[in-house]
Amino acid sequence: MNEQSWQFIGNNGEFTLKDPEQNNYLYFPLVNEAGMMSAITPSLHGDIKTGQNTFAMEPVSAIDLHNKKSTRNFWFLIDDSEVWSATGKSAQQEANRFANDDAEEVTLEAGMLWHKVTRKNEDLGLQSEVCNFVPQTDEQVELMKVTIKNTGSESKKITPTSGIPLYGRSADNLRDHRHVTSLLNVIKTVDNGVELSPTLSFDERGHNLNDVSYQVVGRSGSGESPIGFFPVFEDFIGEGGSLTWPEAVVSNKDDYAQVGEEFTGYEAVGALRFDDVVLEPGSEKSYVLAIVVDEDGSEVDIAQKYCSAEKFDSYLADNKEFWEEKIGKVEFESGDEKFDDWMKWVTLQPTLRRIYGCSFLPHHDYGRGGRGWRDLWQDCLSLLLMEPDLVRDILYNNFAGVRIDGSNATIIGSEPGEFIADRNNISRAWMDHGAWPLLTTKLYLDRSGDLEFLLEEQTYFKDAQSHRTQKIDENWSPEDGNELLTTDDNTYSGTIIEHLLVQHLSLFFNVGEHNNFRLEGGDWNDGFDMAEDKGESVAFTALYADNMLKLAELLRNLEEELDKEELELAQEMKQLLDTITGKIDYDSVSEKHELLEQYFASCEAKVSGAKTTVAISDLINDLETKAQWIKEHIRANELIENKDGYQWYNAYYDNNAQRLEGDYPSGVRMTLTGQVFTIMSGVATAEQIEKITTTADHYLKDESVGGYRLNTDFNEIKLDMGRAFGFAFGEKENGAMFSHMAMMYSNALYQRSFASQGFEVINSVYEHCKDFSTSRIYPGIPEYIDSRGRGLYHYLTGSASWLLLTMVNQVYGVQGQVGDLKLAPQLVKSQFDEDNQAAVTAVFADRDLKINYHNPELKSAAAYQVKDIKLNGEKIDFDLENRAAIIDRDLITNLDENKEHQLEVTLN
Ligand code: G1P
Repeated sequence: MNEQSWQFIGNNGEFTLKDPEQNNYLYFPLVNEAGMMSAITPSLHGDIKTGQNTFAMEPVSAIDLHNKKSTRNFWFLIDDSEVWSATGKSAQQEANRFANDDAEEVTLEAGMLWHKVTRKNEDLGLQSEVCNFVPQTDEQVELMKVTIKNTGSESKKITPTSGIPLYGRSADNLRDHRHVTSLLNVIKTVDNGVELSPTLSFDERGHNLNDVSYQVVGRSGSGESPIGFFPVFEDFIGEGGSLTWPEAVVSNKDDYAQVGEEFTGYEAVGALRFDDVVLEPGSEKSYVLAIVVDEDGSEVDIAQKYCSAEKFDSYLADNKEFWEEKIGKVEFESGDEKFDDWMKWVTLQPTLRRIYGCSFLPHHDYGRGGRGWRDLWQDCLSLLLMEPDLVRDILYNNFAGVRIDGSNATIIGSEPGEFIADRNNISRAWMDHGAWPLLTTKLYLDRSGDLEFLLEEQTYFKDAQSHRTQKIDENWSPEDGNELLTTDDNTYSGTIIEHLLVQHLSLFFNVGEHNNFRLEGGDWNDGFDMAEDKGESVAFTALYADNMLKLAELLRNLEEELDKEELELAQEMKQLLDTITGKIDYDSVSEKHELLEQYFASCEAKVSGAKTTVAISDLINDLETKAQWIKEHIRANELIENKDGYQWYNAYYDNNAQRLEGDYPSGVRMTLTGQVFTIMSGVATAEQIEKITTTADHYLKDESVGGYRLNTDFNEIKLDMGRAFGFAFGEKENGAMFSHMAMMYSNALYQRSFASQGFEVINSVYEHCKDFSTSRIYPGIPEYIDSRGRGLYHYLTGSASWLLLTMVNQVYGVQGQVGDLKLAPQLVKSQFDEDNQAAVTAVFADRDLKINYHNPELKSAAAYQVKDIKLNGEKIDFDLENRAAIIDRDLITNLDENKEHQLEVTLN
């Protein structure tokens, strides 16, 4: 077992790892904004694609990294006899790996965003270096430079051949006509490489003429073209051969094709033969390859543009600069430099998810690209911190997905604001969906002060779903379009705040037997998907209650900052404001249902288009009344105290309307979710939080998996709750340390000023991840830690957004308050360096700020407050509110946009 770990080198998050191949399931992302998405492993395995239907290399799941042989291989035949792969993927090298006298020493180095593997073979006297990256240009291309060096004392003749299989079709074809689709292949040998242009594509879109081509082109580092090609897979490997022992290489075949030949109906391989070279001791030779997906018949000569050592190095330098600048927007300095470097990878992750969606890395072998509604909004949290310019438009467009019944479209198109109706008319709603837009919008408004945003008008989404999960509008047909219309057939628009209101007010009445919001098709936990009839999510009911208070606060801001006294709302919505129109009994589930049914019926097909004017003060009162009722209801009914004296909040009711948590014959049942949202929402009192954290430490904390598990072991396949309980305990949504919920737990604790407990959650995940011999992942946060301690679903996880948000907003406390800058740090003692300093680089009001905190007496987070602040060396005035400093926005906006500005903040 390899006990070695990655080590950071330099200060841009670059790291090195010895013997990376001695670990399984490792992969690394390479990507550009043009949409090239690669996954690469230490043996150059992985795949390359631009979307579900355009895979240049065969799509791989995590298991395939070890049971398939298709890699970006590059072969050398040494002195006509010895076969050697620069990627280690030869049958012989693989067998030798387990021999005690394995002569190969392999080192991986990687950084933003490049990947380099160096392989030394002492017996052969050779060293190879293979570097891959995706350049930040308009092309969908991955570049690879292979350098071979003679480290021995004799001169050697080498015969180089690449061997990169080209798949060139849709992921669907893996098990849908894999062979038949190879009959569509037209393979051409072109200048410098092999091009695959299938005649047709067979996939979910039907049988269509194909216009995408895939290529492997290459030249030597000094510009020599290949001397020939073995473009047909079966010819390259030879009868009885394989990708790890290809006949064309092993037998040094010389019947290679010349430029201008065509082969039809066979699987393709980017096998480029370069001329023999004699390497004198100490000398080296390089080859630059490009793997290309060309979706629009580009005229660019790829070999000319990219394939020389000089060009490769120059694009690589640009690429490093691009990513370093991007992640450099938010940086942390603390007493633990390794943690600060690790955070750079976390900071990168939300951008990766923006590009890859939730698909296209080896564990993410589901989905067809894109993201769901929940992820769309939460990923914006970190984009607000990293790429704030983009976010206003994204948020605005996203609101077009809200339906007038408070639910939303769930199939998201590729254009901003494009939402698509479910073709099957399945009425499914996830009850948490309505809660996320407010959280993201609030963060945006806090940081920008752009309250006018709330008054912008946006359309509503319309399809057959009209009563959330309960009923379908039978009369709607796709020809009616996806915008909500008025009875006189005009498109209906309402303000953004109206959209937010309907998302909250409708759910208030949508309760189950226990008077909590119905779980419907699930909440945050995708795996709780089988309690649609009687399930309830207490956890998210709590979150919605707090959201209502936040909405009330925003309405107050509109009154105070924009002098607004009234709002116009869709007339139908007034029914939901029962404190104005005639209050119902909130303890009565049936009265709630009746009111909701009336509302749904009134806007089932169309709305009248008429607006009603509501006083903002009445709206505030309505929201606060409802929110307070919920909070009291949960406090009174959902707090559990078990036989061992532990206290916590129940999060769910199952499909038999039974409480999910508590003492059961099979053991104690507890979820983390139930604690996170009762803490975050303020339902849990400070004394209760003390007790809940003790309970979570007792039942959920497990150091061997990096901290807090999502739930205890229920020892039951609970078909009345969801598929998650079919997973083995300790995996994914059944009791793994699921980073997303763990980070939200940390965030909730910080929000309630439980800094040391919040820190502990982050720290335990970090400590686990950096222990590579257990976690076996590169730096960054994975979706979850499995029961053996391995990190899975690395890179593409919402937890990165929440961790980054928690670090910026809570730990370093860089927040907005209706546009003003608020500094409310909660750094714990160990986060300050030996000079009692800690710093964060952040963007606020389009200015790059470096905020240096000094805690001269090393006080605890609960004991210090902001004492004084210097901006670029000059003392500035600020207001102190609950130990936090509020700095006038104008002070920041008056600063030069092109410089970084220093804030020196003393805490005492
Ligand atoms: C994933 C999904 C997220 C979902 C969660 C729990 O989490 O992306 O929408 O809420 O599983 O089912 P992530 O991969 O973001 O960590």
